[in-house]
Amino acid sequence: MQLPTHVTMVEVGPRDGLQNEPGDVPTGVKIELIDRLAGAGLTCIEAGSFVSPKRVPQMADTADVLAGINRKDGVRYTVLTPNIQGLEAARTARADEVAVFAAATETFSQKNLNCSIEQSFERFHPICNAAKETALPVRGYISCVLGCPYEGDVPPEAVASVAKRLWQMGCHEISLGDTIGTGTPGAALAMIEAVSEVVPVENLAAHFHDTYGQALANILAVLQKGIAVIDSSVAGLGGCPYADGATGNVASEDVLYMLQGLGIGTGVDLGALAKAGRFICEQLERPVASRVSLAMTGTTAE
Ligand code: HMG
Ligand code: MG
Repeated sequence: MQLPTHVTMVEVGPRDGLQNEPGDVPTGVKIELIDRLAGAGLTCIEAGSFVSPKRVPQMADTADVLAGINRKDGVRYTVLTPNIQGLEAARTARADEVAVFAAATETFSQKNLNCSIEQSFERFHPICNAAKETALPVRGYISCVLGCPYEGDVPPEAVASVAKRLWQMGCHEISLGDTIGTGTPGAALAMIEAVSEVVPVENLAAHFHDTYGQALANILAVLQKGIAVIDSSVAGLGGCPYADGATGNVASEDVLYMLQGLGIGTGVDLGALAKAGRFICEQLERPVASRVSLAMTGTTAE
């Protein structure tokens, strides 16, 4: 097996994980979660989003979250920014990186961003240009890379076409999101092959939700294609407000355990990561969705 020797784990729990929580998550809890994640050795942490608070109320306190964290040297704190208004807020909050988010299907783009794919590029262009002036890195997301809740199967060429535009716009990394977790390894490989024809594979990241339990298998497949940046969410928190039934991202603890078993370095401490996951689940009064974390404490999954 050809595998990378090091993988960068991008922790999306505080954003992708918490954006879908029905109840109020106090700002102090978010801050403590992010600080614990940084303490566990994660160097890329998505801390929140500057989006419409009416659409995603859970992220409305992102500025306060960024103001409250203990910024750790060497850690990149990222926020989602769908438009220039978001970028301005991100700059004021001193985010280290912003992320724009497109979709591979028109219907998901309309539901998530209230605009077509082409119109989303028109919003992202000024973000990329303005970010370039201050050397602020921009990450690009694509949703529905392996399936869409409204349009079904998604052809790899559709994903490649969106990836190419984001790359040409100046996104330094394109994260490929299996938003509803329907993808299987063969489809994931075909999609990565198509996308890596237009964007260098070292600039791609994989973002799997685990709705159908395929995420680890998909990750193992794409690692062999040279993907070395993996998004995940501590304790498997999460979902997507515009994809009914989508569960959380693959659990960071489970990804880390597999990477360790493969001898792949990450710089992340499994014990501290699992502790951060148990902390947030206690606060949210929800079960830990990481099998590894449950096994470590001798607890069984419900
Ligand atoms: P719009 O509905 O087209 O209308 O918004 P608008 O631009 O006229 O704005 C509507 C209201 O939002 C206005 O306020 C704006 O001021 C406000 P009002 O006048 O009604 O009081 N607004 C903002 N407020 C704060 N920050 C902003 C901002 N922009 C507008 N930046 C918009 C378009 C994109 C803003 C809206 O549709 C939106 O916020 N969508 C949120 C989408 C979202 O956050 N989705 C979840 C994240 S993506 C995801 O989870 C997928 C991913 O994980 C990968 C995967 O798994 O697939 C990344
Ligand atoms: Mg996601």
